[in-house]
Amino acid sequence: MSRPAIVVVGSLNMDFVVKVQALPAPGQTVLGSDFRMIPGGKGANQACGAGRLAGSGHDIRMIGCVGYDLFADHLKASLSAAGVDISSIRSTKSAATGIATIWVEPGGQNSIVVAPGANGALDKRDAESWRTTMRNAAWVLFQLETPLDVVDTALAVARAGGAQTMLDPAPARHLPGELLRHVSLLTPNETEASILLGSPAQRIEPDRAHEMTAALLRLGVQAVVLKLGDAGCFYDDGVRAQYSRGFVVDAVDATAAGDTFNAALAVALAEKRPKAEALRFANAAAAISVTRMGAQASIPVRGEVDRFLEVHRDG
Ligand code: RIB
Repeated sequence: MSRPAIVVVGSLNMDFVVKVQALPAPGQTVLGSDFRMIPGGKGANQACGAGRLAGSGHDIRMIGCVGYDLFADHLKASLSAAGVDISSIRSTKSAATGIATIWVEPGGQNSIVVAPGANGALDKRDAESWRTTMRNAAWVLFQLETPLDVVDTALAVARAGGAQTMLDPAPARHLPGELLRHVSLLTPNETEASILLGSPAQRIEPDRAHEMTAALLRLGVQAVVLKLGDAGCFYDDGVRAQYSRGFVVDAVDATAAGDTFNAALAVALAEKRPKAEALRFANAAAAISVTRMGAQASIPVRGEVDRFLEVHRDG
């Protein structure tokens, strides 16, 4: 049996995307435009990204749950086309495939509501059954759109099998220390970091990022990458800390920028590239994704990121 290099445990959603000039106030109706249905879900986006960015020669596997419907077929086809092994995605009759409604404002900022559906049908027994799939993976990637006890159990199973674990704490919520203990690399953005720390949401300037990553390390994770949007990211493992500058691009839609970042980072780390190079590769992949509409529709392939880095060699 081949050994998967990167395994993603998480959600698959069909995204219903609408551009709006401004978000509606409660009770208000506004007209939007450019409606599109685009494959998404934080887990599936990360798997898709890993598939596109790793290229041939890597084994990328998605673990998740969908319903028996057309959205499920579409989502699985999108992952297969990206080179992802979908044989560990199970189907349930108890719920429809997850969906997300996404409003995108001018400038690319988005607002997302997720109805998890089948993503919520995963349970702890599923997590136990993934032991073989996760064994000897270089990295196992998690987010928080599946039940928390599933994430908790699967993190422990992944670590016991020798894999490194990456947790994207999105959608943000308070997390128990017991769960965080199994996290090799935590990758919050500024809002998620604030929620994990119980502090008010704040914009973090790169020169203050170290304070925040130090506080996050005290929660029990082994290392942190704090995502700072277009300002880049800050890595800290308690011994080494380093800032990696972001890229300024014309943003169209920020959907899945964080997912693209995590996928690229996992690929680069699985390839054992130096940390600075891995962080820069992840920043570049995320920057490209925000220049396009949608989640999986926006995720670049490896050659695009390499060319982008070549063009932005000095930036
Ligand atoms: O991170 C972006 C994703 O969040 C979207 O694709 C949507 O499905 C939600 O899960």
